[in-house]
Amino acid sequence: MSDKYYITTPIYYPSDKLHIGHAYCTTAADSLARFHRQLGQDVMFLTGTDEHGQKIEKIAHEKGMEPQEYVDGIVEGIKHLWELMNISYDDFIRTTEPRHMDTVQKIFQKLYDQGDIYKGVYESWYCTPCESFWTDQQLVDGKCPDCGREVTRLKEDAYFFRASKYAPKLIEYIESHPHFIQPESRRNEMMNNFLLPGLEDLCVSRSSFKWGIPVPFDGDHVMYVWLDALSNYISALGYMSDDDSLFEKYWPADLHLVGKEIVRFHTITWPTILMALGEDLPKRVYGHGWLTLQGGKMSKSKGNVVDPEILVGRYGADAVRYFLMREAPLGNDLLFSNELLIGAINADLANDLGNLLSRTVAMIEKYFDGVIPADEAPDPEVDGVLVEMSEAIPSMLERKYADLKISEALEETWQFISAMNKYIDTTAPWVLAKDPDKKERLASVLYHLAEGLRVVSVAIQSVMPETAAKMAAQLGVDTEELQSFESIRIFGAPIAGRHVRKGEALFPRLDLEAELAALEELRSSRQEKAPEPQPEKKPKQKKQTKQLEPPSQISIDDFQKVALRTGVVLESKVLEGSDKLLVSQVKMGDETRQIVSGIREAVSPEDLVGKTVIVAANLKPAKLRGTLSEGMLLAVGEGKDTKLLTADAPDGLLVK
Ligand code: ME8
Ligand code: MG
Repeated sequence: MSDKYYITTPIYYPSDKLHIGHAYCTTAADSLARFHRQLGQDVMFLTGTDEHGQKIEKIAHEKGMEPQEYVDGIVEGIKHLWELMNISYDDFIRTTEPRHMDTVQKIFQKLYDQGDIYKGVYESWYCTPCESFWTDQQLVDGKCPDCGREVTRLKEDAYFFRASKYAPKLIEYIESHPHFIQPESRRNEMMNNFLLPGLEDLCVSRSSFKWGIPVPFDGDHVMYVWLDALSNYISALGYMSDDDSLFEKYWPADLHLVGKEIVRFHTITWPTILMALGEDLPKRVYGHGWLTLQGGKMSKSKGNVVDPEILVGRYGADAVRYFLMREAPLGNDLLFSNELLIGAINADLANDLGNLLSRTVAMIEKYFDGVIPADEAPDPEVDGVLVEMSEAIPSMLERKYADLKISEALEETWQFISAMNKYIDTTAPWVLAKDPDKKERLASVLYHLAEGLRVVSVAIQSVMPETAAKMAAQLGVDTEELQSFESIRIFGAPIAGRHVRKGEALFPRLDLEAELAALEELRSSRQEKAPEPQPEKKPKQKKQTKQLEPPSQISIDDFQKVALRTGVVLESKVLEGSDKLLVSQVKMGDETRQIVSGIREAVSPEDLVGKTVIVAANLKPAKLRGTLSEGMLLAVGEGKDTKLLTADAPDGLLVK
């Protein structure tokens, strides 16, 4: 393993509205960068903005601004977003910076001087939004093959780069470097669609607009944006400048992570330029999938919040980062919806991880005055499973991250979290706590939980840096040593004696309906801000409580669809972590059901036991706070004034 790791994202077009899809690539690159830093590598993580081109010139002028003024404002917004999302880039390159423009001009001059750039006439189809040139054969139904929009016919003087000269060498390179283009499907696509049919020379200048880097020896021309943009990966390293030590140190890139639609530029255009310059090719180009919305593209959002600022503001960067990285393999498209996001937060983060931490910390406080006990009475059979799983985690992470399988890395980490939750059920610490002879075993159980959670905190650092830090703080293991990657290779770090500190829930459980409503409100109020002139602000609507008013009349058939039965309450207790809900076991004839009811404020569990209640018995089972509820108890009144309906009758009978 080399001790440096150079990773890049594409440089983004300055756009008013970066959406959650843009954040996807940057989050993946950030997780990889953080992981390689954890391994102790010298990481260079580059991102930036791609600020030239006709499209930007046009938008700026429409707004009555100079292009530079326009992009300056937008770039601030992009940097702010990356800050919110904890993107730990080492350098941010803007293509309007002198350091970049100087390098690109030197590159152009060198290629011209050596005869690899020549002047000719350019005639082709051009897609303005994509800034891409297309040949007749490449068009799909006469439209841009990437975006499906109209193209225009262009004919103008232009400079060309002799890409064709390097095609045979590139084909050979791709064939002898199977990992250069990934996933493999992309590699076949590049070979079959672009290289094998014959590569054409590339037009590298334009004379019909001004907003670009001038061709050094011809003031009428500015450079084609892709030559300009791709060079960012080396201009940021000081290539051809007075100080190219960073280039010497970090080039070639270990990974260019890019969206699948721009793999072509990174695996054909860019390598041929590098070959002409006599430089090494990047070690790997990976084309990731797109974030999509049900029924179409991200930009046509309906009902889903795609503004990462809103989502991060409401759920925190880590929840969003987790969802993006966990939901699908990097090479696949990923379906985004508010509902899926909230579901993942509740199930994986609030329930599996958050509860595990809060229960563990609470038990250490309750049984050991907040001091992590020592492993005094290990039980190799019961504990061994955890130890073994835990010790497999570091090498699993190294393998998965090397293959860019971040989703699988998280999945396996969550299997360990599930195993710990099962371990609590199996060992039942609250039972051990009742028996003074079991105090040592109780110590061991809590030691294992604390140590296992420490391992988790290190394992999730790269995707969820804030959560990792919060966990370490609550467990009292927030030292550099105890948070190092090396420290989790062997289970059993010396954490006994450390003080836990109960903190806030890592991820409060969300009420799906309420969240969807709140997100919808945020989305529409954010949309109202954008257009000018400012439309009248609607008064904020209060969240609608569900209408409970039934239709005025129903038929007897409708009534008979509802199975109301008498049931006797055998057992009832407060649902852990809730101040409104009771979980009861209700016997109806020879069947016993678990029912969750929101009556805690009015009824105590002790009062409920032995009562005969009326149950809506054929309701679809539902989960309330993750707990299964198979029916509903009938009641009248609200809050503290709730009264349960009871019956003076045997249980299990149909109410009619
Ligand atoms: O292409 N899902 O910039 P860009 C996933 N400036 N990724 C998405 C996405 C989505 N819905 N929408 C966009 C450019 N992206 C050029 C790059 S590099 C030398 C020049 C990704 O702002 C997209 O795939 O249009 C690309 O990787 C990145 O955002 C920047 O896109
Ligand atoms: Mg694009």
